[in-house]
Amino acid sequence: MNFIENANLDNKKVILRLDLNVTIKDGTIVDDTKIVKSIPTIKYLLNKNCNLLIMSHLGKVKDELDKKDNSLYIVCERLSKLLEMNIVFVKDTRDERLKSLLKENRLVMLENTRYEDLPSSLESGCDDALSRFWASLGDVFVNDAFGTTHRRHASNYGISKYLETYYGFLIEEEVKGLDPIVNNIERPFVVIMGGAKVDDKIQLIKSLIDKCDYILVGGGIANTFLAASGFNVGESLYSKEYVDEISGIITEHRDKIIIPSDVVVENSGIINKKNITDVEDTDKIYDIGDATINTYRSYIRKAETIFVNGTVGLYEDERYKNGTEEILKELSKCNAYKIAGGGDAVASVNKLGFDQAFDFLSTGGGATLEYIAFGSLKCNGE
Ligand code: 3PG
Repeated sequence: MNFIENANLDNKKVILRLDLNVTIKDGTIVDDTKIVKSIPTIKYLLNKNCNLLIMSHLGKVKDELDKKDNSLYIVCERLSKLLEMNIVFVKDTRDERLKSLLKENRLVMLENTRYEDLPSSLESGCDDALSRFWASLGDVFVNDAFGTTHRRHASNYGISKYLETYYGFLIEEEVKGLDPIVNNIERPFVVIMGGAKVDDKIQLIKSLIDKCDYILVGGGIANTFLAASGFNVGESLYSKEYVDEISGIITEHRDKIIIPSDVVVENSGIINKKNITDVEDTDKIYDIGDATINTYRSYIRKAETIFVNGTVGLYEDERYKNGTEEILKELSKCNAYKIAGGGDAVASVNKLGFDQAFDFLSTGGGATLEYIAFGSLKCNGE
């Protein structure tokens, strides 16, 4: 991989792909880690007297309403504040003035690249004409969007086909920080996997199971594992269509997959702790219970390497943060090499004050999982 410090970038017009896909709730940025982590590369390029056209996706854009909800403008404002510099924001992702704006301004930011997914997935489908257009705007391409290295979209892989390409400091930091769980794993290697849905993680779960010694399951994902193990999950969110597949995975890796034995449920406004065998048809599971926390603690204690993705409960709600907090407390006490990856995991670590407990916090969710599972970055054409 070619990193920016090995390139001559003086006075260049740089197309800079960042991953500024932050969670926004009620018009407020929930966690700005990804924005902050992008700053070293931006400053380095500015010091080289480059002008930058910053590009990023935000959320998924499938209809006009998604467009309204996923404008990058709020992110542009935050970045501008952090840099204490003006950024020219361009709403039209094909604006004919882009080339001249980049010549005249130090910092230009393009609206969400996924606006190009309407009406016909040009960004996500890596449309050739779109890739060429964006590539035609600058002299070189710098990719520092680690969170999308598992995608081959027009704004990363597509541009890199037509422009000299270098990687930024964040990607360099991620590749180094993840190395102990990609290439040199000290065992036992324990994965703590939470998050809402199994759907987009199924292939990765399979690959990770082959790499790790134990996988402790929590969050919405656990509900699908519980249903696949024959337990009643009541009205909890789970992925019905994956139950059979997960059931097969559990049968094959019975000793590796650890699922909750008790849970915290809500029913008609009343919250209860229950053994998993006692969950009723109208219950909704929102957190793991005390016995499960104890079991998970015992795996954490014997681990040499730990990777946390997602959270084991709905930690944003005070009533259901106990599981996530107790797991983080245990992690802060153990000596294993510890990495948390993905928006929710990192946000929970920051919000609950456990950032010092980790050796490395990765900005990638799916990207980190894929990198650990396959050891290569897809956007790099590998
Ligand atoms: C992430 O948050 O994991 C990255 O920004 C990638 O987002 P995506 O899954 O929507 O491509």
